[in-house]
Amino acid sequence: VTVLFHLGEMATATESLDDSTFEVLGSEIGYKVEIVSPEDEDKELLESFGLNLEQEELDEDDENLEIRPPVVTVMGHVDHGKTRVLDAIRKTNVIDGEAGGITQHIGAYQIWTEHEGNERAITFIDTPGHEAFTAMRARGADVTDIAILVVAADDGIMPQTVEALNHAQAAGVPVVVAVNKVDKPDANPAKVRSQLTEYGVVAEEYGGDVMFVDVSALRGDGIDNLLEAVLLTADAGLDLVANPNKEARGVAIEAKLDKGRGSVATVLVQGGTLRVGDPIVAGTAYGRVRAMIDENGDRVEEAAPSRPVQVQGLNSVPRAGDLFLVTEDDRMARQIAEKREAVERNAQLAKARKRMSLEDFTKA
Ligand code: GTP
Ligand code: MG
Repeated sequence: VTVLFHLGEMATATESLDDSTFEVLGSEIGYKVEIVSPEDEDKELLESFGLNLEQEELDEDDENLEIRPPVVTVMGHVDHGKTRVLDAIRKTNVIDGEAGGITQHIGAYQIWTEHEGNERAITFIDTPGHEAFTAMRARGADVTDIAILVVAADDGIMPQTVEALNHAQAAGVPVVVAVNKVDKPDANPAKVRSQLTEYGVVAEEYGGDVMFVDVSALRGDGIDNLLEAVLLTADAGLDLVANPNKEARGVAIEAKLDKGRGSVATVLVQGGTLRVGDPIVAGTAYGRVRAMIDENGDRVEEAAPSRPVQVQGLNSVPRAGDLFLVTEDDRMARQIAEKREAVERNAQLAKARKRMSLEDFTKA
């Protein structure tokens, strides 16, 4: 406190300080300060509960791994048809719910499609756009295995096409190009292909390794081929596997507060199997899975890897991209959430303090 006082910082012994103040303080009193990132801090927190997710992944026995469906995000320029493509795909589901099939927008959905004589599932993140994609990556959540880049054939490559592509490439996510709106009289799908070669995206028919599929999301034309291309891309060395036989973990895709049901969060299971009754923690939210519903509004008892479900029972609303995990018991879930909450509160206090001292500084 005395050293800080001499540095012009009025602080009490229990106060939060920002990173740079700690560094200065450290050097003043002969300590080297190591700033731990929030991710590292969270890792340490989980480790203190005996949870080391990275190590667990490394230790995973090949025998326990099973093939899981690819998780796909649809990206592209404004108005090029992302929402239409997602709707058209949803309609192709070969095992559509007979009971009317009122689809719920829960932020993600899974469909089944025929592929080389087998029925295969594909999971789609239903919040199109690369903002959602980057927001999740910013939280350390890499949910996407494959990106569908929608390009309108009448419009060609536009700024956000390139932006989306850059995000996919930065994340190391392979791209399938859906050349959309081919029903339009001024559609020029060949031009889309040649334009994209300038960005290193070379179509198979041009000797490259990226699949381009002409579609009309409006008419539903070519959607089967698009799904085929997604599965071929998934099978071409992506090695999409997970162990379904352990406590579940994954990512919150979206969440909201519902008047009747309280906190409802759509989560994507990435490992293990999530079950009704499981104690879970997602970011700073915790609770017990009271009920789960799928994209058809049907109740489900369990969700395996790559399965998106809407979860009820959390005490608050997690953020998109928050990791969730099942814990040994309710107590552990609550303790992890509360510790995270304390960490966040401190970070916010430090930020507020910094802002205030900056304001004082500019006033002076
Ligand atoms: P944002 O969410 O605003 O970025 O747009 P989006 O990419 O989701 O595009 P959306 O699916 O809303 O489609 C934009 C417009 O293009 C709508 O008027 C669609 O009806 C139209 N559209 C989408 N696909 C096709 C298509 O295959 N053919 C034709 N002719 N029109 C299409
Ligand atoms: Mg849209």
